[in-house]
Amino acid sequence: MDTTGNLILPPSGSTYAPQVDALLTFLTYMSLFFIVVIFGAIIYFVIRYRRRGAEPEYHRAPAHNTALEIVWTIIPLILVLFLFVWGFRVYMRMNVVPKDALEIQVTAQKWFWSFTYPDGATSVNELVVPVGRPIKLLLSSRDVIHSFYVPDFRIKRDTLPNRYGITWFEATQVGEHDLFCAEYCGSKHSAMIGKVRVVSDREYREWLETSATAGEGLPPEEFGERLYTSRGCINCHSLDGTPGNGPSMLGVFGSRVQLTDGTSVIADENYVRESILEPQAKIVAGYQPIMPTYQTILRDEEVNALIAYLKTLSEQTTTGE
Ligand code: CUA
Repeated sequence: MDTTGNLILPPSGSTYAPQVDALLTFLTYMSLFFIVVIFGAIIYFVIRYRRRGAEPEYHRAPAHNTALEIVWTIIPLILVLFLFVWGFRVYMRMNVVPKDALEIQVTAQKWFWSFTYPDGATSVNELVVPVGRPIKLLLSSRDVIHSFYVPDFRIKRDTLPNRYGITWFEATQVGEHDLFCAEYCGSKHSAMIGKVRVVSDREYREWLETSATAGEGLPPEEFGERLYTSRGCINCHSLDGTPGNGPSMLGVFGSRVQLTDGTSVIADENYVRESILEPQAKIVAGYQPIMPTYQTILRDEEVNALIAYLKTLSEQTTTGE
């Protein structure tokens, strides 16, 4: 199996990737063959029938040639029918989900991916799947059209609002693969990237367990700090005071925040909670109402942990102010 890829193709990481590649390779070489034949003929005719002498000689052109016309109709017909049948078989293989597939929900929104597993575990920007098992993906979007694109698996499927898209894959070996958004979806489209982590069956079960009990035994601030990165907060809210798509979280907790409607509010626990679960309720002055809700993504104790973490970001700065 090709695990490294080559000049043209990325590594092959799913069971149907080699079939997609074979079809693509055939098409490429077939096109190359006809390019050579057609351009060869053009160049030959240009030289063979170039103008010689001052007065060109005129000949009556042949009206038609039945044998030649049949040949150049039948051969392409056979070729395209052959390609149609081949392509259709690969298409069906990629689109008919095996019965025993493990179903994972994929939700796209500006500008991150979230995944919901069968027992309710969730992850953001990292899809964790067991190796050697068909995975069914139920794709949807909360806002605009995004596209779930994993080159190593040869998967590219649009995610649409108010509709489910279905696709599947089976990873052939343990490892990591890049995930991209392949549909222009706004200013942070290019940052809408993630990973697919293929693990052993045992590791997958362990991961599900630790994910369900994540944060247990951790101080809330520390758990919050992890969530801040793993749930994608960091993508828009910097920690060093630099404004991004959203305000930096440095020193925000406990401070007075100016809102777009001219009023202001103290950033306490309730404000932070509301801003995570209902981001459009209070918009900070100078920013756009673009933050998505985290209602189904974060559990209560995770919201609490994030609040605890934000508090530590204010303690550090109060002495300096
Ligand atoms: Cu989402 Cu581009």
